[in-house]
Amino acid sequence: MCSGKFVDKTAPFRSCLSVDFSVSGLARLIMAGAFAISMAGGQAAADVSALEIGNKLANMLRAGRGAVSANQPLINNPDIADKGFTGDKLIQEAEAIYTKRVGSALLADDLSPRDQRLIEAQMKAMRKIVDEHQADINRKGTGFKGFIPAVFARLVNEEFGATAGTEARVRVTAPPDLVRNRKARPDRWERGIIETRLLTPDWPKGKAYTEQVEFEGRPAFRMLLPEYYSASCLSCHGGPKEETDITGYPKEGGKEGDLGGVISIVIFE
Ligand code: HEC
Repeated sequence: MCSGKFVDKTAPFRSCLSVDFSVSGLARLIMAGAFAISMAGGQAAADVSALEIGNKLANMLRAGRGAVSANQPLINNPDIADKGFTGDKLIQEAEAIYTKRVGSALLADDLSPRDQRLIEAQMKAMRKIVDEHQADINRKGTGFKGFIPAVFARLVNEEFGATAGTEARVRVTAPPDLVRNRKARPDRWERGIIETRLLTPDWPKGKAYTEQVEFEGRPAFRMLLPEYYSASCLSCHGGPKEETDITGYPKEGGKEGDLGGVISIVIFE
């Protein structure tokens, strides 16, 4: 199944199809039949492999953010200069988090050349962003430095787009009323799926939405992975609404469990 933070890559693609749960039994049967036919073609195989790499990229992005999050006390310690939190350290910690959460290693011998390229591009982007911020991270006398998981993720995704953008895109967006950085605003398709699926009360928690859809004039596999606020997010995204958080943004008034954001992935065919 494709719900939950970390998706079993061996799960059959079928369980990851986004199905409108309100449809009648008959409509569902017809959809299942149409799916069975589509499964017979090469298309389905392409989707399964796009889904697998999409999950890997999403889970590694989460693991990278997790490592930045775990190191916030160190990064924001005003008393230490050289913190040893380098790009290599980040990758090492993120890979460990990935393996622990997903249950298998990020890099494996059986990766396709494309998947290998995409994972390496993402890891390279992560390493680069942390290395580029060494002066900030190691600045003595400053506490909070603003090198938070969301900023790290945005910069990594931008760098990834610059190097691997003809093959894939990764970004983090959010429901329109929650967006902080204008660069994170959902596009029309993302917005539609967020509003008509991910935000509806009967959308299964954590379930990814996937669809074969044109992107920038090319056939592509698109994937949206919902993310929910946990208690740790609320010091910035919680209440009281409009109060300024430590980063200078007005708080959203969010609550634990609310849909706070969406990882959006495009894998071009
Ligand atoms: C220290 C304050 C802080 C905490 C804690 C925090 N965020 Fe954020 N978040 C921000 C800031 C600042 C941005 C804008 C980053 C940027 O410049 O792109 C942001 C951006 C985001 C975005 C991208 C969309 C946007 O609005 O630009 C999402 C999604 C998000 N946060 C979700 C979360 C979740 C989920 C958690 C908890 C796991 C969390 N945040 C914890 C401060 C925080």
